[in-house]
Amino acid sequence: MQNFDYSIRTTLHFGKGQIEKLGQEIKKHSDSVLLVYGGGSVKKNGAYDDTVNQLKEHGIRFVELSGVDPNPKISSVREGVRLCRENKLGAVLAVGGGSVIDCSKVIAGCVGTDGEPWNLVKQAHYDKVLPVFCVLTISATGSEMNLGAVISNPETKQKVGTGHPDMVPVCSILNPTYTFSVSKKQTAAGTADIMSHTFESYLTVDQSAYMVDKFAEGILKTCIKYGMIAINEPQNYEARANLMWASSNALNGTLCMGKAVPFSVHEIEHQLSAYYDITHGVGLAILTPNWMKYVLNDKTVSRFVEYGVNVWDIDKSLSPFEIAELAIQKTRGCFNNMGLPATLGEVGIDDQYFDEMAEKAYNPGYQYTFQPLTKADIKKIYRMSL
Ligand code: NZQ
Ligand code: ZN
Repeated sequence: MQNFDYSIRTTLHFGKGQIEKLGQEIKKHSDSVLLVYGGGSVKKNGAYDDTVNQLKEHGIRFVELSGVDPNPKISSVREGVRLCRENKLGAVLAVGGGSVIDCSKVIAGCVGTDGEPWNLVKQAHYDKVLPVFCVLTISATGSEMNLGAVISNPETKQKVGTGHPDMVPVCSILNPTYTFSVSKKQTAAGTADIMSHTFESYLTVDQSAYMVDKFAEGILKTCIKYGMIAINEPQNYEARANLMWASSNALNGTLCMGKAVPFSVHEIEHQLSAYYDITHGVGLAILTPNWMKYVLNDKTVSRFVEYGVNVWDIDKSLSPFEIAELAIQKTRGCFNNMGLPATLGEVGIDDQYFDEMAEKAYNPGYQYTFQPLTKADIKKIYRMSL
């Protein structure tokens, strides 16, 4: 196991009614917030009303920024920065999913930093970050408990990951009942995203972080079991609660402790979202089994065997490659059963931009991945996914 530093500063309040603690948590840091949300789902599932009640009850002044898109755009960040500065707001409160939380984090970073927001995003340079709070309404990204954010710029066809240690939310409210209203498609996409975060951390050459890898297998089993239940029974609390806790744990850093994790499939997917504005989890569901097939070889097969045997209970007496191939088929089957597409063609993507996308998705760090990837390899994975 490699050395690591572990510190997660987010206070989580998990469960029904826990929003009652939001006002007092914010008050410890600020008397005013920018209240950020998306296209209006929060007004139907109770999260908005519960949040506003808390703000009023605790005398917290607030200004609203609504309409943050899935794959949040830099224009929303600019608007949020303007509102914070004009109204002298002291914190940012996200009510929604990863898109709203990411937008809120970057607003919080740009308010106190000189410079054009898109440049700051690209450089990940933030001098001072306002405290970020979060009321989570969809289980997917783990943004509620990590330092990252992903922002899109449609003008330049870029989707860029950024972040800062102070962007980790100070406090997140995780009430699974707010996710009862999440559609089947978004539930499936969110579950695929949680699984992908776990695969990125688990399918690595370094197999010495045994404890973390067993935790990863538990998260994968949780997604496989409860993803389908949540799709078929949207108001099943146990399913929604387990997915929500899996979401936070899959990307709060724990699964990366003691190993190098370059998140290559994510970067390959982000280009699909940047060029075609598709749902992140849908892109991951299409790419992941193809990436698995592409990187399966003599060097990596043993890890696929562990995955197949421990997560899918595949018969150990089969040959290593039989187990690995079956595990990949089962991964594809799992996404199919959740109603997710299997090909880029199904979401209207052809090979027009593969060269540009492979160029942007490439990172020299991929030489350290499970199986090193060049730009040509990335292009082949896009092509296999057609
Ligand atoms: O906009 P509203 O009306 O709220 O509707 C949203 C949106 O249409 C809807 N939704 C959310 N909660 C709901 C709900 N609908 C009904 N009931 C509810 N309770 O779901 C749609 C998708 O929302 P979004 O926030 O985009 O989903 P998600 O949480 O999957 O976030 C995706 C974004 O996060 C980035 C992705 O790239 C993408 O931009 N990621 C962020 C990461 C991070 N910060 O750590 C890591 C991830 O890998 C990912 O890249
Ligand atoms: Zn993701």
